Amino acid sequence: MPLRIIQYGVGPIGSAIVRVLLERTGATIIGAIDIAADKVGRDLGEVVGASPLGVLVSDRADEVLARKADVVVHSTSSYFEQVFDQLLACVRAGAHVVSTCEELAYPFRKYPELARRLDEEAKAAGVAVLGTGVNPGFVMDKLVLTLATVCQRIERVFVRRVVDASQRRLPLQRKIGAGMTVEEFREAVEAGRIRHVGLPESVALIADGLGLEVETISETIEPILAEADVRTEYLHVRAGQVAGVRQIGRGLAGDQERIRLDLQMYVGAKEPMDEIRFFGTPDLCARIPGGTHGDLATAAVVVNSIPLLVQAPPGLRTVVDLPVRFAATF
Ligand SMILES: NC(=O)c1ccc[n+]([C@@H]2O[C@H](COP(=O)([O-])OP(=O)(O)OC[C@H]3O[C@@H](n4cnc5c(N)ncnc54)[C@H](OP(=O)(O)O)[C@@H]3O)[C@@H](O)[C@H]2O)c1
Repeated sequence: MPLRIIQYGVGPIGSAIVRVLLERTGATIIGAIDIAADKVGRDLGEVVGASPLGVLVSDRADEVLARKADVVVHSTSSYFEQVFDQLLACVRAGAHVVSTCEELAYPFRKYPELARRLDEEAKAAGVAVLGTGVNPGFVMDKLVLTLATVCQRIERVFVRRVVDASQRRLPLQRKIGAGMTVEEFREAVEAGRIRHVGLPESVALIADGLGLEVETISETIEPILAEADVRTEYLHVRAGQVAGVRQIGRGLAGDQERIRLDLQMYVGAKEPMDEIRFFGTPDLCARIPGGTHGDLATAAVVVNSIPLLVQAPPGLRTVVDLPVRFAATF
């Protein structure tokens, strides 16, 4: 029997996930929840750019969750506190939950009490809850921990992800500050409008996964300036203006840096890549030229995790708890 799935949040990521689910024989979509006025009441297939599915998008989460799904795929927001009640409602409806909420990838350090409550509720309901995606969820944590298998001893970890935002959607180009002055950029950072959520969660996943003593996790956000004019489909960024953002997450033991995650997202990046380096025995460097695609990979990670999630022990899980597997047959 195909797994009965509800899609909770039908933005660009929820839509990308639904399009992948439609290609899999192991899933059938029985409901969709979203509060956006331009989506409520419309056919889900039409909203995600596919053929009509006979499933209408609803803003009544309680009604949709009462249909008793096996799995809710959740993609509404980045912040654990904001989605906590949504996740709880899914769990209480008896569904496993996989979410792209970045802070859910490892909420134990920042929100120990909320994490404990969600874990207890999930165990009581006999379901598993997982936060995942491409980053956090894979490139800067799960992939690192997977590669670490071939090391005998690890002293330091360095990960760099360089994304060329020229090829991405306008909202993403705006979100990284492309075209701003440095002053506007700093104001936007101050106001919390420019920030990739999830680096501290990835640092924590690596630290705890590798058993590295990390007492402090810190984060910096700086602009990357365009060295020459860059034209994207949507924007003209002039030399000297902000091309994007460089965010660095650090895991420190005392004043010793044990983990550094260096995320650069800017228009005109010449050498997009994902790179993982271990310093230890032996030293190791792995590089993905071109880097991993953000949205396509997120949808893939989420969908591939579903057959693993439904077999996972109940409770609040992390990507470390799940095996690495491409679920082609799901
Ligand atoms: N872990 C990863 O690697 C990864 C990768 C990509 C994205 N993400 C995260 O995944 C989330 C979804 O991404 P996105 O680009 O699709 O975001 P988005 O553009 O903000 O879309 C989210 C959708 O959910 C709706 N929504 C918000 N609150 C809701 C609620 N309480 N109930 C029902 N629907 C609600 C929104 O409606 P309104 O527009 O009306 O608010 C919108 O339609 C974001 O937080 C993003 O940062 C994580």
